[in-house]
Amino acid sequence: MGNDDFESLLESRELKIAVVGLGYVGLPLALAYAASGFAVFGLDVDESRVAMLRDGNSYVEDVSDSLLGDAVGSGNFIPTVDPDVLCDADAVVICVSTPFTPAKDPDLTHVVKAAEDLGSRLHQGMLVILQSTTYPGTTNEVVKPILEAGGLKAGVDFDLAFSPERVDPGNKTWTVRNTPKVVGALTPEGAEKAKLLLEYAMDGPGSVTVLSSPDAAEMTKLLENTFRAVNIALVNEMALLCERMDVDIWEVIRGAATKPFGFMAFKPGPGVGGHCIAVDPHYLAWRARTFDFQAKFIELAADANLRMPRHVFHRIARLLNSESKPVRGSKILVLGAAFKAGVGDTRNSPALSVMQQLADEGAQVTYSDPHVPELVINGELIASVPLTGAELSSADAVVFLVPHEEFDRTSVGAGASLIFDAVNAMEGVEVAGRLERL
Ligand SMILES: NC(=O)c1ccc[n+]([C@@H]2O[C@H](COP(=O)([O-])OP(=O)(O)OC[C@H]3O[C@@H](n4cnc5c(N)ncnc54)[C@H](O)[C@@H]3O)[C@@H](O)[C@H]2O)c1
Repeated sequence: MGNDDFESLLESRELKIAVVGLGYVGLPLALAYAASGFAVFGLDVDESRVAMLRDGNSYVEDVSDSLLGDAVGSGNFIPTVDPDVLCDADAVVICVSTPFTPAKDPDLTHVVKAAEDLGSRLHQGMLVILQSTTYPGTTNEVVKPILEAGGLKAGVDFDLAFSPERVDPGNKTWTVRNTPKVVGALTPEGAEKAKLLLEYAMDGPGSVTVLSSPDAAEMTKLLENTFRAVNIALVNEMALLCERMDVDIWEVIRGAATKPFGFMAFKPGPGVGGHCIAVDPHYLAWRARTFDFQAKFIELAADANLRMPRHVFHRIARLLNSESKPVRGSKILVLGAAFKAGVGDTRNSPALSVMQQLADEGAQVTYSDPHVPELVINGELIASVPLTGAELSSADAVVFLVPHEEFDRTSVGAGASLIFDAVNAMEGVEVAGRLERL
């Protein structure tokens, strides 16, 4: 299909779009197209997720049940587990997860499976965009050969592009509609098509920057996330140094942030989690090694961040010790289990790691998190407790790991006898008992 035909199908909303993988990334994207007036197929392998979506029940916090219900009710969003819907699609956007293996090597199982499902249903004129975060070379070296296995040629018979997703769950200001994007394709025509398609899910023209290749777009995403990982690692290291030197790291950051140029404030904490900062540097470091290049900076940053949950555990143990209490048998109330504030996602959450270490050493761990109703520690399902005065006063230590805004800090300050605050959530709050910060 030529770019003019593609554009007119977009304008008339007749273009058939399929989004593969309906998670934090794919679901908001599919709904953005549905809201723009397209009929969108949402393909996922998880039958229970698809059943929930069909019933209008969202499992992604940024997507409300009413938005989902309207899209399903209008017929514009059709969730399905049937890959045959791809046979009719003009444009397919792949948003499946890209985790790592226990050895922290890239695990592209889901990308490969999605490409295989699509490859056997590929047709002339199709546009395929990969959005999953991955190492530079994935689109060209992994996805392209799978799609071409049936005989059609990428860049000739169909278009293939990579456009990294920048969605920031919980961020009310920057959403899928107004966060600028980049895209790189095999050909300039393919890139133009991909740009047009992406802009229809966004606030309009000018939102997408075209780069020269999928590799450049893949690397762009990893630069963005590695930039964060390295800076978080730096400030974590500074926090450890400040602790030794008895200097308040939070005051230091506040001071540095008064400089209006050349400095960007990052905060220390119990470590990094989620599906981006905790994973992406490992993808890049792994890829670098295949080029006989050791990305020392990146690996050092990943290592420094990985050490933080253990450091926080040791600080809690020391704090208890200073009160003549052992970890074993102490009742610890953890505030926050998600990987960051404002979300319920616990993937790679450092809070879980801290809780696990406390439980391993015999502490009685309870937690409160308005976004995470339950979680598994040592194979046991435990439920979030409400943040009541009784929970606070009965705890030997209260540990702040995620600064969710819902936590009533005044009550924490009034009710807890011993607080360890790893995220400076208690800044400026009156505390009746003892408080130590990272
Ligand atoms: N979550 C974020 O904040 C975020 C931000 C930017 C980029 N990303 C990247 O986007 C990608 C998706 O992340 P996510 O957080 O949405 O993941 P997710 O786990 O929330 O969702 C992925 C979905 O894909 C489905 N899936 C897996 N294999 C499939 C297949 N073969 N066919 C169809 N569906 C399949 C899963 O069942 C799941 O519903 C990842 O590469 C991630 O790194 C995530």
